[in-house]
Amino acid sequence: MDKVIISPSIMTADFLNLGQEIKKVEDSKAPWLHLDVMDGTFVPNISFGPKVISDIRRGCSLFLDVHLMVEKPDHLIKAFAEAGSDSLTVHIEAGPDIVGTLKLIKSFGIQCGVSIKPATPVSDIEPLLDLVDQVLVMSVEPGFGGQSFMPASIDKVRELASLKRGRSYIISIDGGIGLANIDVLKQAGVDAVVTGSSFFNSDDRSAFVNRMSSR
Ligand code: DX5
Ligand code: ZN
Repeated sequence: MDKVIISPSIMTADFLNLGQEIKKVEDSKAPWLHLDVMDGTFVPNISFGPKVISDIRRGCSLFLDVHLMVEKPDHLIKAFAEAGSDSLTVHIEAGPDIVGTLKLIKSFGIQCGVSIKPATPVSDIEPLLDLVDQVLVMSVEPGFGGQSFMPASIDKVRELASLKRGRSYIISIDGGIGLANIDVLKQAGVDAVVTGSSFFNSDDRSAFVNRMSSR
């Protein structure tokens, strides 16, 4: 089985020294960088937009895994794709037409993902599983880093693993993930994990990434 893809989130990084923080991710050998975009409407917090992503793109060769926590995201897809995102993940709860949004993302030649909040069942996205490259299970209420992991999300990973049946979507999980819960997520069938505070608070980030990614 392939290693688990580790996608450190910069949500808990020091934005005054963002370049150095991203260098920490590169040095750790994590292959992805998770970028949380928040609009203050879909979630009660605001983070950053396409300008920050295009600046990151200029200095970083990591796979840019962009998580859009944005209401009705269609009008923003072009800007985020052209900023250099490798993947754009949108929420099924964000409206208005998830299939249209996913097709719009794919029209820019990049990967697309769909995410579900803790209260949304996997059955709501079942019809989309042939369309997406990634399914992102939220294991906290989206909006802030540093929250506690919600164990009910483990069953969603299991369900998505059993629904794969030859399909190639990546099962990702986001929120409150670290050494304390990685093993059960691996057993459940996770392919990628987002990790914010556990990554940045770790003393030895390379060892952390190694331990998190090994099967
Ligand atoms: C939550 C974000 C997450 C989060 C991850 O809305 O989508 O990516 O910041 O950070 P930790 O690992 O601290 O929960
Ligand atoms: Zn995220």
